[in-house]
Amino acid sequence: MSPFFISTPIYYVNARPHLGHGYTTIVADSISRFHRLQGDATYFLTGTDEHGDKIVQAAEANGQQPREYVDAISALFQELWPRLEIANDQFIRTTDPKHAACVQHVLQAVYDKGDIYFDEYGGHYCFGCERFYTDKELVDGKCPDHQTAPTFIKEKNYFFRMSKYLEPLRQHIEANPDFIQPERYRNEVLSMLKEDLGDLCISRPKTRLTWGIELPFDRDFVTYVWFDALINYISALDYPQGAAYRKYWAGAHHLVAKDILKPHAVFWPTMLMSAGIPLYQGLRVHGYWTVNETKMSKSLGNVIAPLDMAHKYGLSAFRYFLLAEMSFGQDSSFSEEALVGRFNADLANDLGNLFSRSLSMTHKYFGGTVPECADLNSVDREVLEIGQNAMANFQAQFEHFQFSRALKSLWDLVRHLNKYIDLSAPWTLYKNQELTRLGTVLYVILEGMRKIALHLWPVMPSTSEAMLAQLGVRFDIQTVDLAAEVSSWYGLVPGTVVAERSNLFPRQDLDLQDTAAPAAKKTKDAPAKPAPAKPADASPQLIEFEDFAKLDLRVGTVMAAEKHPEADRLLVLRIDTGEPELRQVVAGIAEFWSADTLVGRQVVVVANLKPRKLRGLMSQGMVLAVKQDAGLALLGPSAAVPDGSKVS
Ligand code: MSP
Repeated sequence: MSPFFISTPIYYVNARPHLGHGYTTIVADSISRFHRLQGDATYFLTGTDEHGDKIVQAAEANGQQPREYVDAISALFQELWPRLEIANDQFIRTTDPKHAACVQHVLQAVYDKGDIYFDEYGGHYCFGCERFYTDKELVDGKCPDHQTAPTFIKEKNYFFRMSKYLEPLRQHIEANPDFIQPERYRNEVLSMLKEDLGDLCISRPKTRLTWGIELPFDRDFVTYVWFDALINYISALDYPQGAAYRKYWAGAHHLVAKDILKPHAVFWPTMLMSAGIPLYQGLRVHGYWTVNETKMSKSLGNVIAPLDMAHKYGLSAFRYFLLAEMSFGQDSSFSEEALVGRFNADLANDLGNLFSRSLSMTHKYFGGTVPECADLNSVDREVLEIGQNAMANFQAQFEHFQFSRALKSLWDLVRHLNKYIDLSAPWTLYKNQELTRLGTVLYVILEGMRKIALHLWPVMPSTSEAMLAQLGVRFDIQTVDLAAEVSSWYGLVPGTVVAERSNLFPRQDLDLQDTAAPAAKKTKDAPAKPAPAKPADASPQLIEFEDFAKLDLRVGTVMAAEKHPEADRLLVLRIDTGEPELRQVVAGIAEFWSADTLVGRQVVVVANLKPRKLRGLMSQGMVLAVKQDAGLALLGPSAAVPDGSKVS
């Protein structure tokens, strides 16, 4: 059991939590859960950064005292995280007394070492960044981040001899390629270190700012907010004496976005060197989310609140989307269109259908219990091989924070299992009463589903547990052995009772009402709201109720679909309408629907239509649909119902 410690930045309390904070904290939660699954002793820290000018100004703007203000905003963060299924071990606040004591302890150690001196300094100070800028760093005389002119301030302050440690830091980064990752940020820091970064001003006179931690060696000054904030990573672990510090610091990883690379990659390790504290293991740096390609900002009114998205599309979909969409290290654009598109493609079609059709087949063919697995043939062995690769890649990529690649690998297995169902055609095996073979096929599928569900626990914890429960498996982290999952395929116990139905990810339609983000173009998976229908014919022909009652309309699940070999406009569907055999329906919908988006969907079938041949293939009924200019919508129940249910 190796220790693994993961931290997020501690967020400023001058703004409410938004998508950016949500992303970092969800990533930290997922990686911490992944290490817990692997059996590592894991500690996950997040919190709020509550001192400094910025906070005082925000409190004033709100007509509040700093203390009252920071308590309120910090509470927003603390209350949000559990609702996003974020299971942090501690929430640290820089206004906690234990944090202040630790900051003073470290300051004293650095001071005693002779690494702090007093000096007069005049420079361009940006209140937004709470730091001095050199002439070279300013762009057209303005702060490059805030585009505001800095204030020239001349005052006496304390300085940390950071320059003394820059060369040892450079050597450490050179010798430890894993220290800062992804590579582009490692390179960025190495080129930063080629410049003369000088020393770091670490105090603010109380005449100017009192909302901070007093220097232990001069009560007329408070600590610079970054020197204070970075120490949260060890004060939370009760440095220097705490058991948590001794247990977890050796496995310390910090997760940040690119905006705060320099404090984490330069200030913090040099502070640690001076204080005689071992350096952290790894800094992991991600890119920035924009919203529809635009910077997220209050004034543009496009700030995405994480909880809104989770409420609208489901928490699992939101967490999955964030991890799958952003290539870790690069910037990414958030849009609801992309979220809905991915939801429908990956979750509703691929994963949701795999679950719904496999569980319903287990019920239909084996009374709802996991069948025995007999000898495997080459098609089955291919599934096992693809599964092994998918899981091994998933684990390796997740470990290295490459979440989008990890999920893509896992989906190789999801998609292959869907293909394997089509290829093995369990309905035909059943029809021919090849029950031993049918049992093996279903076992291979159900076991693959169990593995997928388990690997998804770090990403979507409660849905993963629900998927496992549908397979009759109780999630127990103590018994999970991820490495063994890769090498063996026989985890499910034959005879286990599985759920009859699964409706984990019902397809979503895009709903841009109540959304801050401006709409972009629609995607194929997320059709626009249709135009009102043309008025009906003036005098429809009336029929007797008895005529209507002649129709036998049934709900059925599309189990397989393929193009008609001889007609481009036709699809050949195999639909489970609750009868002993699947119904073959030939439908003229190929122009609007691709075969793979239909599988797993429930449709309404006219079940008592006389069978007829369409381009050489027998069709036993019709599916009901609404044709419009915008496309063709299929009719189906609003929630899953048993196949064969009569429409009345
Ligand atoms: N208080 C400092 C951090 C001190 S850590 C010792 C701070 N706070 S912050 O509230 O501004 O948070 C910055 C962090 O929030 C980023 O590094 C990132 O984790 C997250 N994000 C904020 N906006 C973001 C995006 N638009 N996109 C992705 N993440 C971003 O800096």
